[in-house]
Amino acid sequence: MHEKVSPKSLNDLRLDTLGIDTMVPLLDGTKQRYIFLDNAASTPTFRSVLKCIEDFLPWYSGVHRGTGFKSLIATELYDHAHDIIGNFVNADRSSNVVILVKNSTEAINKLSNRLNLSNEDVVISTIMEHHSNDLPWRKHCKVVHINVEDDGHLKIDDLKSSIKVNEGKLKLVAINGASNITGICNPIYDIARWTHEAGATIFVDAAQLAPHRAIDILPNDDPSHIDFIAFSAHKMYAPFGTGVLIGPREVFEKGEPDTVGGGVVTAVSLDEVYWSAPPDKDEAGSPNVVGAIALAKVITVLEEVGMDTITAHETELLEYAYERLKRIPKVILYGPSDNLKNKVGVITFNVEGMHNALVAAIFGAEGGIGLRNGCFCAHPYVKRLLKISPEEDRRLTIEMISGDKTNIPGLVRAYLGCYNNKEDLDRFIEMLTRIAAGKYRGEYIMNAKTGTFSVKGYKPDFERCFSFGESERRHVERFRSEAS
Ligand SMILES: Cc1ncc(COP(=O)(O)O)c(C=O)c1O
Repeated sequence: MHEKVSPKSLNDLRLDTLGIDTMVPLLDGTKQRYIFLDNAASTPTFRSVLKCIEDFLPWYSGVHRGTGFKSLIATELYDHAHDIIGNFVNADRSSNVVILVKNSTEAINKLSNRLNLSNEDVVISTIMEHHSNDLPWRKHCKVVHINVEDDGHLKIDDLKSSIKVNEGKLKLVAINGASNITGICNPIYDIARWTHEAGATIFVDAAQLAPHRAIDILPNDDPSHIDFIAFSAHKMYAPFGTGVLIGPREVFEKGEPDTVGGGVVTAVSLDEVYWSAPPDKDEAGSPNVVGAIALAKVITVLEEVGMDTITAHETELLEYAYERLKRIPKVILYGPSDNLKNKVGVITFNVEGMHNALVAAIFGAEGGIGLRNGCFCAHPYVKRLLKISPEEDRRLTIEMISGDKTNIPGLVRAYLGCYNNKEDLDRFIEMLTRIAAGKYRGEYIMNAKTGTFSVKGYKPDFERCFSFGESERRHVERFRSEAS
């Protein structure tokens, strides 16, 4: 039924984007159409995805062990969703397994728990990783972090020599497909080849790649094959709580699952446990059926429009924006601002003499533009791009852990989705030009504890936008009186 509303072009996709015409209040009392440029964090969804869920929900039921009609159909659709998700990255399902979890973070933690790593083992990662592709590895083994050039590109020669030096102990190279800060796409297929030559495997964190590029993990016997990959549905227009981990079936057939309980066993006695075959073995508890179906549906939507069409559109938007951004006085751009084909749609910047949190707050209160500032869960990379010395870093860290985030370092990030257009960018560029010229009107006050700015006189009435219903106020008041 929902196929009828499936978008076929980029323009359809924009019209299909839920909330594309939402009006939000500004500091001066007027309203503006909200421009959302924080798509790296989480994207909106499409009406066609919502419609698909609405069509499915009357058939909704718990999966796998029910015998009723609804359980049978829900099980079939849930299993089918695994196939669609696997096909999205061209995974050979006879040798690879698609495991559905909550998000990329859970997927990477699961992989790190399941690889049977020891203190002697080496994982090579980079300083341009999101913490979710760094901290899980640190828990299990020695992590070597490859540095980056001043413009944010990975030091490829350092990576190659580290792979050689660590041969024997090297178990895995864990690297992002695209950076959530500079948008730089790493040469994952070359890295896969070098890694395999050293007898190790590669994991690609595709959280920021999957929404923007077609991905092919290639056949398992191809030297450039991507062994493991993870991505998040909420970053690709299906924010209903699903994450993906794909890897060789034989890896997940071995060992114990990291989370145990219902759904992961074939037989249990008081003395023995026999695990199910993957993916069930690694999808403990009742799975998120709705989330899986939403992700499968969005994949069909993105494929219908064409991942290559999406890539070309985002590159064109980047080129349009950078040509203008380079001309705005006082705007400092980070990462590549030329040859933009090799980066996904992100613009990272600061305004000379202004706190990154202040700039982001003005965009929200006076521009109706949602973007983000800070270190974006990649502290080492941001500090490297900002050229913060180790001494300065130590001083700032001490300040922050003692509760004062006044000088918290950071950048401002505008991150495009496939539904954004030049009109959105015009509003963004116009606002940035105003801010850089000091032409903002509000009085902004920093909260030293949070490192954020609020503006005097701007208290939007959220309840008018959305409410849980009559009893919400009662719950809130009770919470406030108990807290005071
Ligand atoms: C590159 C990268 N990896 C991993 C993650 C973690 O994703 P999630 O929050 O869905 O677990 C993010 C989130 O922003 C990211 O940008």
